[in-house]
Amino acid sequence: MNGGRSQVYALDARTYCDPDVYQRERQSIFGREWLLLGHERELAKPGDTVAGTIAGFPLFVIRGKDGRLVAFHNVCRHRAGILVEDGASHCAAIRCRYHGWLYDLDGRLQRRPGFAEDDAFDGAALSLYPVKVESWRGFVFVNLDAAAGPLAAGLGDLATATADLAIERYAFHARKSFDLAFNWKTYTDNYLEGYHIPYMHKGLAADLDMASYRVENGEQVSIHRASPKGGGAYGGLFLWRWPNNTIGVYGAGFNICRILPLSSDRLELVFDFYFDPDAGLSDAEKDRAAATTCGVVAEDFPMCEVVQRNLAAGVYTSGPLSPRHEQGLAYFHSRVRGALAGETT
Ligand code: FES
Repeated sequence: MNGGRSQVYALDARTYCDPDVYQRERQSIFGREWLLLGHERELAKPGDTVAGTIAGFPLFVIRGKDGRLVAFHNVCRHRAGILVEDGASHCAAIRCRYHGWLYDLDGRLQRRPGFAEDDAFDGAALSLYPVKVESWRGFVFVNLDAAAGPLAAGLGDLATATADLAIERYAFHARKSFDLAFNWKTYTDNYLEGYHIPYMHKGLAADLDMASYRVENGEQVSIHRASPKGGGAYGGLFLWRWPNNTIGVYGAGFNICRILPLSSDRLELVFDFYFDPDAGLSDAEKDRAAATTCGVVAEDFPMCEVVQRNLAAGVYTSGPLSPRHEQGLAYFHSRVRGALAGETT
């Protein structure tokens, strides 16, 4: 006990290293939560698709002929070939790259070349594996769990935390991604505390009033605020949403990041940068702003790699979290523990 409050400890080191734990996380976290896959600007007309892999689940969303979004596992019903290449593209019908099976935009199998001409088959029975899809302020989320509740519940307090942010008015500028050699939670832990900022980010620390740094956990979110100092680029609002998104708000824009696990010790970070078109920034200025953000984020990568190695070394098991600085981690870790224990939320 500490001052009447229970001391909260970090997740066990094995949670960050064990491939079996990662497989359990795939099912109990990424197989059940609403996951950001793309943006409606990439899905303007019927046949427009966005595909990507999240925690080993290949997925795509497509604008149907009726104008509605539908989403599927990017896995052919024949022998598991790929249907849509990663990224944004367009197709009049969904054709498997392996043996040419053809699906309609609603996922129903239309043709399977090479089978007997009188071959009768039930196209609906061989439909693509469906995935739930919903949009929030232009961002397209998918959920692999057919029993999942609505996206609004999955967003929790993100909606109110971003109510004053004119998301729809901001224009996409650029995407930056990083392939990194540590666990997705090692990165998330790092994002979820400002404790390290004075030691690891001298430039960022100079732009923020660190004494004002506050963390507030809400439903599905951890909200970090720090008053920006005059002349700095930062808006002083940093959001994290369970399980794998962050939003950083700046003076003339914001970035939204997807934290994408690749294995127990690798992840990809994908940042999309948006800017206020009325802010009068040139493309070069936007590039510099995005590069500054990426530079700050990258300052943590070497430490995250070291932490990952130390977590795997078999000496450290867990340590106490600061009630003042690391309550964001405490919430995140409680969600991971709950998910691995099979708790529903
Ligand atoms: Fe798709 Fe064979 S795996 S057509």
